[in-house]
Amino acid sequence: MTPIASTELPMHPPSAAWLRIMAQIYDPFCWLGEAAGMKRRRRVLLSEAHGRVVEIGAGTGLNFEHYPDGITDLVVTEPVAAMRRRLARRLQRRYYPTRIVDASAEHLPLPDASVDTVVSTLVLCTVDDPERALREIARVLRPDGQLLFIEHVRASSRFLAACQDRLEGPWRHFAGGCRCNRATIELMRACGFNVAATEDVWRGMPAIVRPLIVGRATR
Ligand SMILES: C[S@@+](CC[C@H](N)C(=O)[O-])C[C@H]1O[C@@H](n2cnc3c(N)ncnc32)[C@H](O)[C@@H]1O
Repeated sequence: MTPIASTELPMHPPSAAWLRIMAQIYDPFCWLGEAAGMKRRRRVLLSEAHGRVVEIGAGTGLNFEHYPDGITDLVVTEPVAAMRRRLARRLQRRYYPTRIVDASAEHLPLPDASVDTVVSTLVLCTVDDPERALREIARVLRPDGQLLFIEHVRASSRFLAACQDRLEGPWRHFAGGCRCNRATIELMRACGFNVAATEDVWRGMPAIVRPLIVGRATR
């Protein structure tokens, strides 16, 4: 694996109290961004999901309504208890064969080569060890499997990237560990994924979470 130079600062994990507040404010905070395009983006991306699907860091479950009929099994992982409670509530309104699992993306409790589609929306910015998470995703995917993702990443504009570096600390503390300056596409490639992605703007959200990348990665 090719090492990627990190611009990230070490951090203390967010407190349990703040994570509970995050779970409560997540949907209202995202409302404008969802209405201004993210909801459509989720629907289009997830129409490509098939077979056995694993969603990492599912949060409050904003993706649930967009999964197509015909997926055989949906496993949603989420390490934060307050988020899992919201997931469970949202799931009561859906009828997929679904399992909610307390797990981080760095340690997926699934056998090798057992999954057709992994879904990561706005998660690889937040995991503590993204390289380990990507290796886990590669491990659980079948050889012809796919990672579908929507992630905000480090900006290519020098000015915006400098703002992201400057604001990384305060944003991370506010946003439950999210690193606004993480070069996720480069990490995917360094971990051996072939990536096909388009760039977009997350309207309705602060500029430091631009650009968004939306796409599909295969091993
Ligand atoms: C910005 S939210 C995105 C939630 C959801 N995927 C969405 O699209 O709205 C980031 C989520 O990643 C979760 N998370 C944090 N660390 C994680 C890790 N190591 N592995 C998996 N998920 C993690 C958080 O608890 C949170 O639910």
